[in-house]
Amino acid sequence: MEHEPSGAPAPEPRPGKPMLRALAGEAVWPPPLWLMRQAGRYLPEYRAIRQEAGDFIALCTAPELAAEVTLQPIRRFGMDGAILFSDILMVPWAMGQPLRFAEGEGPVLEPLRTAAAIDALDPARCAPRAAPIMETVRLVRGALDTHAPRVTLIGFAGSPFTVACYMVEGHGSRDFATARLMAFEEPAMFGRLIRTLIEATTQYLLAQLEAGAEALMLFDSWAGLLPPSQFRRWVIEPTAEIVRQIRKTNATVPIIGFPRLAGPMLAEYAQRTGVQCLGIDTTMDLRWAASAVRPDQALQGNLDPLSLIAGGAALEAETRTILGAMRGRPYVFNLGHGIEKVTPPEHVAALVRLVRTG
Ligand code: CP3
Repeated sequence: MEHEPSGAPAPEPRPGKPMLRALAGEAVWPPPLWLMRQAGRYLPEYRAIRQEAGDFIALCTAPELAAEVTLQPIRRFGMDGAILFSDILMVPWAMGQPLRFAEGEGPVLEPLRTAAAIDALDPARCAPRAAPIMETVRLVRGALDTHAPRVTLIGFAGSPFTVACYMVEGHGSRDFATARLMAFEEPAMFGRLIRTLIEATTQYLLAQLEAGAEALMLFDSWAGLLPPSQFRRWVIEPTAEIVRQIRKTNATVPIIGFPRLAGPMLAEYAQRTGVQCLGIDTTMDLRWAASAVRPDQALQGNLDPLSLIAGGAALEAETRTILGAMRGRPYVFNLGHGIEKVTPPEHVAALVRLVRTG
């Protein structure tokens, strides 16, 4: 729902989903909105389904439940984008790398440390084994077409570098030193892993498009750990290659790139990867980001998730600053990183109201 000042005649709503229009380069106002990790443990209805599913991977591979969880925040808050409920680590899982989500410590993978282990990965296995995830996409798209035709369905994957970090390290880390050292010491081996991921990720995203995803996002959460030369090699080039491959059959599908903590490398990333939209992390000044990308490239972000926990005056001030900086250019409101699990759902509702009233 777009709110107009009372008394003014409501303008004709323009055709097309607000988020797709913004991603195509239009300065839609108020801006479309969704939130990274909008489905998750801060919602009691998520925790109920998660318990029903058992573990996290079971939830990601149970299409009915995963579709329900994808739609929960849309029903409760009315976001403009619904992001497929899955995880970036489902790509290594689908290629056969053992994965589990340990309670309270995050993902645990059997670490990949040898050329033989990397050679044993089969990128062709990824999309077929991820079939239940594609079924989730189909179910969500069907539900949106019937009940929420203004909502855009976002498919996603991790970018090769960030996914490789977890595959090599075997778990989350502050600096992913083992993975980054492999990139320096064994560039041919690390390069093989990245190439395998480019191929698997491309097939996985194409399958999501075929199942009904309308926009795609590439999460590169750890891109900012790399010095510029390595950033070009392991972040920009693989991303550009995935975008090129996808565009061969889907010439205009909007792709959002999120090179978290890229800093000034954002400019080169925006110029060379071919993405239409740049996800911006919390540390970046949005006016600077706007100066670093083409005027027709949309920006997405970058409210600090902690201000959403705080709520009240802090949330309002941060939100207004962001809206003031982005008015008049193509823009999608979002956080600068995922929602934290202690976030009060009422604060999310308040944020949606704030953004919708400009
Ligand atoms: O709502 C959404 O945004 C869609 C689903 C989604 C999840 N993870 C669900 C999830 C998406 C897009 C992701 C992306 C993801 N996963 C990233 C990139 C974005 C980022 O946060 O930097 C990364 C690095 C991961 C890997 C991952 N998955 C970690 C490190 C963890 C543990 C941390 C945590 O919050 O528990 C996960 C688990 C995870 N992925 C959960 C959810 C809802 C929590 C699992 C649970 O319910 O127990």
